[in-house]
Amino acid sequence: MDNSYIYNRHSVRKFKDEEVSIDALKEIIKAGSYAPSGKNSQNWHFVILRGKDQVDKIASAIEKKNKDICDKISDETIKNKFLNGIKYQLTFKSAQTLILVYARKYTPTGYEELKLSGAPEEEIKDLWNTAPGIQGVSAALENIMLTAANMGYGTCWITGPDYAAKEINAVIGFEKEDYSLIAMTPIGVPLSTDFKRPPRKPLEEIMTIIE
Ligand SMILES: Cc1cc2nc3c(=O)[nH]c(=O)nc-3n(C[C@H](O)[C@H](O)[C@H](O)COP(=O)(O)O)c2cc1C
Repeated sequence: MDNSYIYNRHSVRKFKDEEVSIDALKEIIKAGSYAPSGKNSQNWHFVILRGKDQVDKIASAIEKKNKDICDKISDETIKNKFLNGIKYQLTFKSAQTLILVYARKYTPTGYEELKLSGAPEEEIKDLWNTAPGIQGVSAALENIMLTAANMGYGTCWITGPDYAAKEINAVIGFEKEDYSLIAMTPIGVPLSTDFKRPPRKPLEEIMTIIE
């Protein structure tokens, strides 16, 4: 059993100045589309931004939104933490290609019925938080990242800049009814083959076997 492509995937935040071909991108997105999705809704859409200019435009929109938010916050500690956090939100900046990941709204099975049955607010909220629509699109993104790793490309799942979704959509002129931006990943040739990865929790901690 060769699971090495799973263990070799890691978050890549520095890239070589090399483009990813359209053919490679098509193969990678196709692999994404083979993910499972609730009621086979395939409720994903991927916007590929190619070229430094596009990537820079997105980075500037996020920086501006970060600053605009901070200008309205009076608490200095919270403001500075958010301002400094921009580094973690812009870790895609050295890439030539960015994949923006959109999800269509998806109502969990039983949600309306639970509401109609007069179930407690907490129970209704818990069901909404299972986010099946996001689960399907996340499965697609993981397929994309693993396929990219298998083809020698680096990626990094990024949700930090989601607060600037409206501005990002405006900058690229993309709109799709009922779809919202949930994540993005740069994709490219990693600058280095060395990587440090956070250690994983031991199996005993994350797995419960009930017999
Ligand atoms: C939902 C999600 C959101 C993430 N958001 C960011 C982000 O905004 N910026 C970033 O640099 N990395 C982000 N990451 C990457 C994580 O930091 C990384 O996956 C984690 O530290 C484990 O490291 P590894 O991917 O190298 O195994 C995110 C990962 C996930 C799954």
